[in-house]
Amino acid sequence: MIRPVALLLALAFATALHAEITPGEILISEMNCAACHDAGPQMVRLASRQSPRLGKDGVRPTAQWLREFLADPQKVQPGTLMPDSLHALPPEQKAEAAEALTHFILSLQPADSATGRGASAGTIAEGERLYHTIGCAMCHAPASLLPGKENDAAAKEELAKLQQTSVPLGAGIAKKYSLPELTRFLRDPLKARPSGRMPGMNLTETEAEAIAMYLVREQMDTQPMRPLGDAPFTVDAAKAARGEQVFAEMNCAACHAGTDAPKRGAKALAQLAARQPRGCLGTKPGANVPKFDITDRQRQVILALLQEQTPLNTPLDPEHTIRRTMTTLNCYACHVRGKRGGADGLRRDYFTSTGEVDLGDEGRVPPSLTGIGAKLRPEWVRQLLAEGSKVRPYMVTRMPRFGTANIGHLPELFEKADAHPDAKP
Ligand code: HEC
Ligand code: HEC
Ligand code: HEC
Ligand code: HEC
Repeated sequence: MIRPVALLLALAFATALHAEITPGEILISEMNCAACHDAGPQMVRLASRQSPRLGKDGVRPTAQWLREFLADPQKVQPGTLMPDSLHALPPEQKAEAAEALTHFILSLQPADSATGRGASAGTIAEGERLYHTIGCAMCHAPASLLPGKENDAAAKEELAKLQQTSVPLGAGIAKKYSLPELTRFLRDPLKARPSGRMPGMNLTETEAEAIAMYLVREQMDTQPMRPLGDAPFTVDAAKAARGEQVFAEMNCAACHAGTDAPKRGAKALAQLAARQPRGCLGTKPGANVPKFDITDRQRQVILALLQEQTPLNTPLDPEHTIRRTMTTLNCYACHVRGKRGGADGLRRDYFTSTGEVDLGDEGRVPPSLTGIGAKLRPEWVRQLLAEGSKVRPYMVTRMPRFGTANIGHLPELFEKADAHPDAKP
C-alpha cells in the first residue's frame, strides 16, 4: 500500500540531502512532532508541516467520511500523516468518540448548502486533461497514460510504480468531498493547509470545477453529484458538546488550529533523547500518546536524530536551506537544481507545451534552477514565487503558489548561494 511516510523517507534519501540534513529531521518536521514536543529555537530549522486547519478556514468533509476517518485514519486514508489519537479506546467507545467529534467538527462550519451539479462527460475529460498536464501529476500519481502509450508495457509498469510512490489522493475522495467543496479547496488550498505542501495552481473557477469533477467522478451515478454514502446530517448539540470535550482530552488542538479548544505540550523535543523506542515511538504506544504509523526503519532514523541533536541546533548554510525547502515542498518534482531533482522517465512525458511553437524540451520542461540567484534579481524571484509566472506562455505546466510564509526566505538565499558559482559543490 502507498505510504507517504515511507515516501518522505525515500524522498529524503533520494535527494541525498547530505549529512547536514538527515531523513530523521525530515520525518520529524513532516509528521509535526513539534506540535506537542516544543522545539524552541530548533523550530526555525524544522519548518514543520502544519496539520490542516479545521473550522471556518478548513474544508467541510462529509459526516460519513469523518466518522470513519476519525475512527481509523490509516484504514480510510492509507499512508496519512494523521495519527490515531483514539487508538487506546475499546471499539464501542471509539465509535462513540468519533461520532461526537464528527458533530463537533461540523458544528464549526456553516451547514452544507451546496446543491452540486450533474456530472458531464466533457467536463470530466477536461479535468483529466488539466490534472495530467498542468502539474498535479508531478506530485500525485498520473491516473492514465498519455495518448499513444496506452499499450506500451514498460510505460504501464512505470505508471503502476508511480501510483505506489506519489502523494496519495485517497481512494475516499469521492466520499469526503462534495463537488463544490472540493472546488473551493482547489481554488485556495493554502487556506485549509497553510504549509504549502499542497500548493495553489492558479486555477480559475471553471478549471477547479473540472478537476474536482474528474477527481470525484465516482459520484456520476447521482444527479446532481453527491458524495458517496450521502445521508442527511444535522448537528446534534449534545453530541457536539461531548465532541468538544473529546477534542480537548485527546489534545487534537496541538496539531489542528481553528477551534477554541485548549492544547497541551509534552516534553520538549530537546529532551527526547530516548535510547529505546518509547512514548510515540513505542511499538505499543500508551493511551496518553498518539499512535503514528511508522516503520522500524523510521523509528531508527528518528531516534538517531533525537540522540544526537547537534544538527538541529546548527543553522544551515543558504544552499542547504534551499535544498531542504525544495525537498519538503517538492520543487524537485519539476525543477533541477545542481545535481538534484527534475522529472525523469514516464513522468517527464507529462510536461507538455501548447504546441504553437516547437521549442523542444525548452518549451515544455520547467526551467533549471541551477545558478538562478545569479541570473535573476531577488525582487523578481520574490514576485514570481508569490504570484506565479507566465514568462513562458507556451508551457502548459504551471509554476504553483506555495505561499510567501513558506518560501519568502528563498529569493535572498538563491542570491547568496549563487553569488560565487565556483564555490558550489
Ligand atoms: C499530540 C501530541 C503529541 C505529538 C504530535 C507527538 N507526541 Fe510524543 N509524546 C506525547 C506525550 C503526551 C508523551 C508522554 C508524556 C511526555 O513525555 O511528556 C510523548 C512521549 C514521547 C516520547 C517518550 C519520551 C520519554 O522520555 O519517555 C518520545 C520519544 C516521543 N514522544 C516522540 C515523538 C515523535 C518522534 C513524534 C512525531 C512523530 C511525537 N512524539 C509526536 C505527545 C505527542
Ligand atoms: C508540489 C506538489 C503538489 C502539486 C503540484 C499538487 N499537489 Fe495536491 N497535495 C500535495 C501534498 C503534499 C498534499 C498533502 C498536503 C498536506 O498534508 O498538507 C496534497 C493534497 C491534495 C489534496 C487533499 C486531499 C485530501 O485528502 O483532502 C487534493 C484534493 C489535491 N492535493 C489535489 C491536487 C490537484 C488537483 C493538483 C493540481 C491542480 C495538485 N494537488 C497539485 C502535493 C501537490
Ligand atoms: C500529529 C498531529 C495530529 C494530531 C494529534 C491530530 N491530527 Fe488530525 N490531521 C493531521 C494531519 C497531518 C491531517 C491531514 C491528513 C491527510 O490529509 O492525510 C489530519 C486530518 C484531520 C482531519 C481532516 C481535515 C482535512 O482538511 O482533510 C480532521 C477532521 C482531523 N484531522 C481531526 C482530528 C481530531 C479530531 C484529532 C484528535 C482526536 C486529530 N485530528 C489529531 C494531524 C493530526
Ligand atoms: C508543478 C511543477 C512545478 C513545481 C512543483 C515548482 N515549479 Fe517553479 N516553475 C514551474 C514552471 C512551469 C516554471 C516556468 C513558468 C514560466 O516561466 O512561465 C517555473 C518557474 C520557476 C522559477 C523561475 C525560473 C526562470 O528561469 O524563469 C523559479 C525561481 C521557480 N520556478 C522556483 C520554484 C520553487 C522554489 C519551487 C518549490 C517551492 C517550485 N518552483 C516548484 C513549475 C514548477
